[in-house]
Amino acid sequence: MTAESSAAPTESPMFNPLEPGYMENPYPHFAEMREGQPVHLSMVDLWVLFDHDDVFRLLRDPSMSVMDEKIEVRDEARMAEMIEAVGEEFERDSSMLNTDPPDHTRLRRLVSKAFTPAAIQALRPRIQQLVDGALDKIEAAGGGDVVKELAFPLPFDVISEMLGMPETDKEQIAAWSGTLVKSLDPMLAIDAFIEIRDASNAMNAHIDEVIRWKRENPGDDLLTALIAAEEDGDRLTPVELRDQVTVLFVAGHETTVNLIGTGIYELLRNPEQAAIWRDDPELDTTAVDEMLRFVSPVQFSRRITLDDIDFQGTIIPKGMFVLAGLASSNHDPKKWGPTADDLDLRREGAGQHLSFGSGAHYCLGASLAKLEASIAIGTFLRRFPDAAVSGDVEWNGRINLRGLEHLPISV
Ligand code: HEM
Repeated sequence: MTAESSAAPTESPMFNPLEPGYMENPYPHFAEMREGQPVHLSMVDLWVLFDHDDVFRLLRDPSMSVMDEKIEVRDEARMAEMIEAVGEEFERDSSMLNTDPPDHTRLRRLVSKAFTPAAIQALRPRIQQLVDGALDKIEAAGGGDVVKELAFPLPFDVISEMLGMPETDKEQIAAWSGTLVKSLDPMLAIDAFIEIRDASNAMNAHIDEVIRWKRENPGDDLLTALIAAEEDGDRLTPVELRDQVTVLFVAGHETTVNLIGTGIYELLRNPEQAAIWRDDPELDTTAVDEMLRFVSPVQFSRRITLDDIDFQGTIIPKGMFVLAGLASSNHDPKKWGPTADDLDLRREGAGQHLSFGSGAHYCLGASLAKLEASIAIGTFLRRFPDAAVSGDVEWNGRINLRGLEHLPISV
């Protein structure tokens, strides 16, 4: 069956993340898609899955690829327009996130040594210290921007320290990485590709420089360990080393910021849920799973089909780009029941959310992210029981790594 023959009838809903109101609340749109067309071919030749069971199956299917060069069916006119505007095709990113086995297995094994449960738990005192410092500043000022003071700097500092990055111009790096992650958004204007190319070149040059510096200044850190693996011969090439450092660094903070920032916002809007967490320290770890389900800091993952595959009677052909609707699956009433759209910190089985993906590419930093969020949100709730939103919140405009850019509060 061809892409055309399995495409939607015209009256079916269209996935359109650019529609007004989507950024503030995409969930009604997801509900409409699950209802009308859970297996959807969008206007730009990409498929989107919205139902929990389909997303789960896609992520765990070992016959799927994560390598964009395996895409066979492209919008040729748009590709030509993009290449003309950007001036070149993007260099392939060899991070584990974009690599299939056997290379994926080798890369992930090397890096995961630093993410053992004991290594993550050992970070607890430092994370608490960083959280306390951020909250001291907010308290002294009688309020502030939760994203700027806590949600962004906490994961940024933690992953920088784990890697052993030098002190650098945080704002510049944050700007590059903020642009880089836009490449994960499904529908990009051509201009965005140019910005992403420039940010990617600048970030690569910066990470190369950091690696050169680290060779001269080794320490007890992840970057030194990865350099040792690279110097050990054929286990990690220089480009692979750079790309693993970049993915750890970017994934380490551009995601957790949304869990902490949007998570605190949702709790300020649900005071009875905030009180449940505040009064029960036992919830510090389990409540984070419900926050992850509810907030879905990474809204989509993607795979490329290497064979035709059937979802609910619709065939997605070989060589197609498929978006897995993580956020939609986390709110699918067929999985979560009639309260799927409610925040319920005592929900049974909340840990079955797909916010960290599933299968071979399951998030390597999941336990780190959960530790950071449980300390940040738990401490925030207990320290500021009277916290309230004090101005206009601003969304970050990202379809995939959806979150708040600014969350002004008074305490
Ligand atoms: C709330 C925070 C986070 C969320 C929601 C999140 C989400 C995800 C998701 C959905 C994937 C799978 C992508 C796929 O299936 O294609 C993933 C992979 C990954 N994440 Fe996270 N992540 C978070 C925090 C972190 C942190 C703190 C780190 C590192 C310190 C990290 C490092 C990675 C890496 C390296 C991968 C690639 C794993 C692989 O391809 O095998 N993430 N993450």
